[in-house]
Amino acid sequence: MSRKLRVGVVGLGIGRAHVWSYQQLPEQFEVVAACDTDADKTAHVLEHQNVSRACADLDELLAIDDLDVVSLCTPPHLHLEQCRAVLASGRHVVCEKPLVGSLADVDALVEAERAAAGRLMPIFQYRFGQGIQKLRHLVASGVAGRAYLTTVETAWSRGDDYYAAPWRGRWDTERGGVLLSHATHAHDLLEFVLGPVASVFARTTTRVNPIETEDCATATVEMADGSLATLSATLGSHVEISRLRFCFENVTAESSLAPYAPSSEPWTFTPRDEAAGRAIDEALAGFEPGPEAYVGQFARFADALAAGHELPVTLASARESLELVTALYHSSQTGEPVRLPLGADHPAYRSWLPKP
Ligand SMILES: NC(=O)c1ccc[n+]([C@@H]2O[C@H](COP(=O)([O-])OP(=O)(O)OC[C@H]3O[C@@H](n4cnc5c(N)ncnc54)[C@H](O)[C@@H]3O)[C@@H](O)[C@H]2O)c1
Repeated sequence: MSRKLRVGVVGLGIGRAHVWSYQQLPEQFEVVAACDTDADKTAHVLEHQNVSRACADLDELLAIDDLDVVSLCTPPHLHLEQCRAVLASGRHVVCEKPLVGSLADVDALVEAERAAAGRLMPIFQYRFGQGIQKLRHLVASGVAGRAYLTTVETAWSRGDDYYAAPWRGRWDTERGGVLLSHATHAHDLLEFVLGPVASVFARTTTRVNPIETEDCATATVEMADGSLATLSATLGSHVEISRLRFCFENVTAESSLAPYAPSSEPWTFTPRDEAAGRAIDEALAGFEPGPEAYVGQFARFADALAAGHELPVTLASARESLELVTALYHSSQTGEPVRLPLGADHPAYRSWLPKP
């Protein structure tokens, strides 16, 4: 059994959920420090979450000798430089979504990780819900058959209280709106199940809140496997839901409507006919449920590090997600469809931010 990984968590908004989740895995992790520029946030974690050391900034955290992992939960515009600093210190880094604000920046992190002793794991914790894991199992075992059409809906609600945090809703700090920050989870699940996107046509608008970034978006999508998908996302839905509905040749797979847990059970798998039903039952009999959400991602992270295996979420996955975001923004800004993949010669490679 390898030694516990000693973790510092930076940014104590959603970072408090990171602290809690590492603490559910006491054989694998020990949270040794909580870090935030806001002293009230660190004081709160020290008082309520059984962490003994407070750090006022990342430099102070990185000065701790026997630290193995830094979990970054700071606003998006800080991720690139903070990931680089952690990698330069020789530690592993776990970074919240959105990893960075452009394809050029994610490619810079690929280079930085290649040169570093530590590894970088982007967060996509929705991937570990047992419903989506079952669907992946059906697809991998060949039972689902060809994909036809998928619908992906993210209908959440955000208002003044949410946008009181000054970094939110601004291109220079949040780097995007509902497409980058909120629907990214459900859109990642689309690619997690079906693989890469081939082309998109998107429309975005800002109607719900007085912010710079978009809060409503729709897109039609062609997947590289030839199937089609629609995406819709809003932050103005008075009833919050997320929904994924995959129509395959042999099975229609539907999530629940739980807005923040659409990848978890219950999922419905409706077979085409009796034979398909038996094949699904047989395949699912071999499905082994694992831990979900952040706990599920962190447990697999420790296992992968110990075994020297590929991390449960890779930089390549984060790049694929940001490539889709880049294509969606570029399409909505130009009014044209956009074909993927996007290389360094694409006009939005360095930035998808609207031109001044
Ligand atoms: N995966 C998910 O489901 C999920 C959910 C919520 C947020 N997020 C992501 O997590 C990140 C943080 O979001 P949030 O909602 O927790 O924001 P937040 O504003 O609630 O918290 C961010 C914290 O970072 C601190 N901070 C800012 N600059 C810092 C610095 N230089 N050093 C140390 N601390 C600093 C702030 O004081 C604040 O406490 C964002 O990228 C967001 O998109 C992910």
